[in-house]
Amino acid sequence: MPGTVRVSASILAADFARLGEEIALIEESGCDEIHFDVMDGHFVPNITFGAPVLEAIRGLTSLPVDVHMMVTEPGRFAGLFAAAGADTFTVHAEACSDLAATLADVAETGMRPGISINPATEASAVTRYVSSVPRFLVMSVEPGFGGQSLIPEVLAKIGLLRSAALRAGAEIDIAVDGGVKVENAGTVIEAGADTLISGTGLFKYKDGLAAAVRRIKGV
Ligand code: DX5
Ligand code: ZN
Repeated sequence: MPGTVRVSASILAADFARLGEEIALIEESGCDEIHFDVMDGHFVPNITFGAPVLEAIRGLTSLPVDVHMMVTEPGRFAGLFAAAGADTFTVHAEACSDLAATLADVAETGMRPGISINPATEASAVTRYVSSVPRFLVMSVEPGFGGQSLIPEVLAKIGLLRSAALRAGAEIDIAVDGGVKVENAGTVIEAGADTLISGTGLFKYKDGLAAAVRRIKGV
């Protein structure tokens, strides 16, 4: 439905020297969520930030924060990120030796669990969780770096996840992450996404972040 899409700002693309101001800008611009990319240099070939940075952000905003764990065996850190103030804790299906157990560990902390799948992972690998997991994150780039181009073929997974949820009588929030920007937001929304996660598409937008959010929501 047009106009109902949620925008999640990936702070990986923010200016870290001015993080407080960037968070204020995200709030003022009508973003619905902050996306917090944690990378471990093992599951993905890059390293970012962790719980102390989340704690600092938590003190600055009441927006929900989705922690996107690009980390091998992420369940090890569920308690740490819950204590730092994460609302959603999204783990990669490919990074968990026992996904069901990891999701149970996440749920136990009180955080909302999410499952992310890489471009090469089929939706069918995770459809069995539509009744128990409220957030699905479809990666539209290979995880590890911001600023890549969206792979359009992954968008078909949104419909597959949605029909599995409908069949199960479940409501899920489907997010798309990687290469999302004003120019392709319409395609992502038409494919059925509920939440558009964007980093460089917001922070590096020619007319500024607020204009990007407005235009994405206006599609
Ligand atoms: C990629 C991260 C994304 C990334 C998105 O591994 O998971 O969240 O920050 O950045 P853009 O929107 O620039 O592709
Ligand atoms: Zn991400």
